[in-house]
Amino acid sequence: MVVTAEQNERLTRVGPGTPMGNLLRRYWHPIASEAELVAEPVKPVRILGEDLVLYRTLDGRFGLIEPHCPHRRAGMANGYAEEGGIRCSYHGWKFDLGGQCVEAPFEDLSSGSTRFREQICALAYRAEVRFGLVWAYLGPAPAPLIPTWEPFTYENCFTQIVQHVVECNWLQCQENSIDPVHFEWLHDNWHAGRSGHPERYAAKHATLGFDEWEHGFMYRRLHEGEDESSDSWRNGRLCIMPNLFAPLHFEWRVPIDDHRTLSVIWMYERVVAEREPYRQDVIPSWWGQHVDADGHPITTHVLGQDVVSWTGQGVIADRTREHLGRSDRGVQMFRRRLIADMEAVERGEDPSGLVRDPDANRCIRFPNELRNQFVEAPTPERLAARMAVLKRVMPGSRPDDYFFLLEGQPDDVHQQWAWAMGLTDTRPSP
Ligand code: FES
Ligand SMILES: [Fe+2]
Repeated sequence: MVVTAEQNERLTRVGPGTPMGNLLRRYWHPIASEAELVAEPVKPVRILGEDLVLYRTLDGRFGLIEPHCPHRRAGMANGYAEEGGIRCSYHGWKFDLGGQCVEAPFEDLSSGSTRFREQICALAYRAEVRFGLVWAYLGPAPAPLIPTWEPFTYENCFTQIVQHVVECNWLQCQENSIDPVHFEWLHDNWHAGRSGHPERYAAKHATLGFDEWEHGFMYRRLHEGEDESSDSWRNGRLCIMPNLFAPLHFEWRVPIDDHRTLSVIWMYERVVAEREPYRQDVIPSWWGQHVDADGHPITTHVLGQDVVSWTGQGVIADRTREHLGRSDRGVQMFRRRLIADMEAVERGEDPSGLVRDPDANRCIRFPNELRNQFVEAPTPERLAARMAVLKRVMPGSRPDDYFFLLEGQPDDVHQQWAWAMGLTDTRPSP
């Protein structure tokens, strides 16, 4: 399949009324963490090319409203989150979660009637909190369910949420979710290659497997000398429609607009047995860094390496100039599915992978043969081995940094993690 310039436009543009924008609006997207909104209840956001204001009401619900007040256009980002809605800070008009104006204090009082403000409704979308993330739905009713992926149901895990903004179109980030060979060259060989040591290159990929799955695709990998009992074959990595990557954690690639992507990471790790039962009231969240203070890329961490490749493809990759090979079979399958899903939405049908059945949504199982590694407490030996691997894949990182995806983990989150993993006996305050 050769992508034409017209198809590239269709696949990448996400604004209102575009074919891909219409498709992506049929799914819930994580757009913030609950912890951020608990700390600061009103947050301006941009998603799918739309500027909006996200807020957490005093009674703990979430709303998403247009950025300018319908009265005289003041910024709703300066509003007060109250019970059941948000109040504009200019003249005090209040809007409920559906955008309906429910108070216009001077108008209501002076006219003795609510008729004027009853006709006023701001644009509003649904926002819900689940699994420590705030999710937004910008599509038509009825909204599907927010999927309960299997790891969301695991108990006794230390979970953290990390966000960062990537300066390129979402699709090249998500195509990476079905790109097995990049592990070898972008990650395994990065430090050896960049420091002039080709003799240290990792084992080559020899065989790839691509499977379709109800919610997307899975790839498996065999390196030279491995057979199908290897971990990278048995534990396939999932590319979930339309913008989720699930290897041993989650990475969503949420379009901010055509040119920027909000990368949202949900990382869980099984705590050691002596910390059971382990629960988190609010999942900690932080903003990761892939660029240093001088604007240079930080490539000690795995996602920092991904980011240089994604942005290196251009702000919107020119897919008309590619030369796809056998390793790109998954990318081709994914693009075909996106094209079919856009056509389904144009026919008025649901795209693939929506979850509407509450029973099925109690727990959506992953095709993962190594499940026990995530649901059983690690032995001290397994934990030590994992930590050694983590340090090996991130040479040059801070000595006590074991968060391999992105630089910037705050000390308090590191302390919480270290306690959960049994690495310190000092319990940090929450
Ligand atoms: S501009 Fe918002 S209440 Fe007047
Ligand atoms: Fe990667």
